[in-house]
Amino acid sequence: TDFTAALTRAGKSENLPREDLITLLGADADESKVLFRLADQVRLKYMGNGVHFRGIIEFSNYCSKNCFYCGLRRDNAGLTRYRMEAGEIIAGAREAARLGCRTVVLQSGEDSFYSAEILAGIIFRIKKELDLAVTLSLGDRSKQDYALLREAGADRCLLKHETCDAGLFSDLRPGTSLEGRITRLKWLRELGYQVGSGNMVGLPGQTIETLAGDIILMRDLEVEMAGIGPFIPNKQTPLANASGGTLEMTLKTLAVARIAMPWAHLPSTTSAASIHPSGRVKALKSGANVIMPNMTPQRYRESYCIYPGKLGTADTPAQSYNRAVMAVKDAGRCISEGYGHSLRYQKKY
Ligand code: 5AD
Ligand code: SF4
Repeated sequence: TDFTAALTRAGKSENLPREDLITLLGADADESKVLFRLADQVRLKYMGNGVHFRGIIEFSNYCSKNCFYCGLRRDNAGLTRYRMEAGEIIAGAREAARLGCRTVVLQSGEDSFYSAEILAGIIFRIKKELDLAVTLSLGDRSKQDYALLREAGADRCLLKHETCDAGLFSDLRPGTSLEGRITRLKWLRELGYQVGSGNMVGLPGQTIETLAGDIILMRDLEVEMAGIGPFIPNKQTPLANASGGTLEMTLKTLAVARIAMPWAHLPSTTSAASIHPSGRVKALKSGANVIMPNMTPQRYRESYCIYPGKLGTADTPAQSYNRAVMAVKDAGRCISEGYGHSLRYQKKY
């Protein structure tokens, strides 16, 4: 069959043509099992059995953008907004390090309250006082801002392209363009960041051709990280009545991403964990090698409501960490001891 032929080529080459990616993404239930197995083998060969823990601190849920899919959107008046103070963010990073994380991810909506100078101060202190790699996930900033944050010590930056369909991108993210996002990803590369992108699975109007395009875009950009998770409709957004992404389609996209980008760090996303009890473990068995336990103080968690049903909303950082440890054990894997820098950065690829 076409699937068997594409899978055979996938086992030999990572530069798979678009048609093969589309064929693999179209796998039926039985074919998917074989696809996941191959992705798991590729993951073992390139990344080993270690799972990298990236503790995430969601330090502000203010956002100046109005993305149609996201609960943090500016026009969502039904959300209690919060901002963590610098000292609180640093304390959160300290807790992440104490629990065993080697990376902290500082994430927020697009919140200009935190100037680049303020953020640089926080990053500088984390890098000086704690043994952590720092990843930023703050959305759009100026090139000067990204440069300052890099100088302050940030190692990595995440900026998901969300969808490679330029029309859909602008429809769902009013006032922004896919081109602008790709330009930023290139700036980040120039500035010496390890660069992460990613996309949602199951957006309205998306097809498997789009998902193949998402993977090709990230492969062409040689991103070192790719966050792939299901879209989960949120009642407090314009996409309230859309149907969301399935775990099955998410796992297929993850598996094909692993095969096409064997060097990339791929998280088992919180969103995948949130739509199915075994989503997290299944993702780890379908190509993922990263987990992002939530290190946000408990009292803010309910308010960082991007989508409903988010895993661990009632947990403390320690509970979230333990939950991630259990998923790693269930998947028969171990916790990585290293920082989990990109393979290229470590000159291993
Ligand atoms: N479902 C799943 N993921 C979402 N994101 C935003 N809204 C949703 C949703 N409804 C993801 C996007 C974005 C990050 C903040 O969360 O990929 O990059
Ligand atoms: Fe803001 Fe990001 Fe949500 Fe868009 S996806 S509304 S930029 S937090």
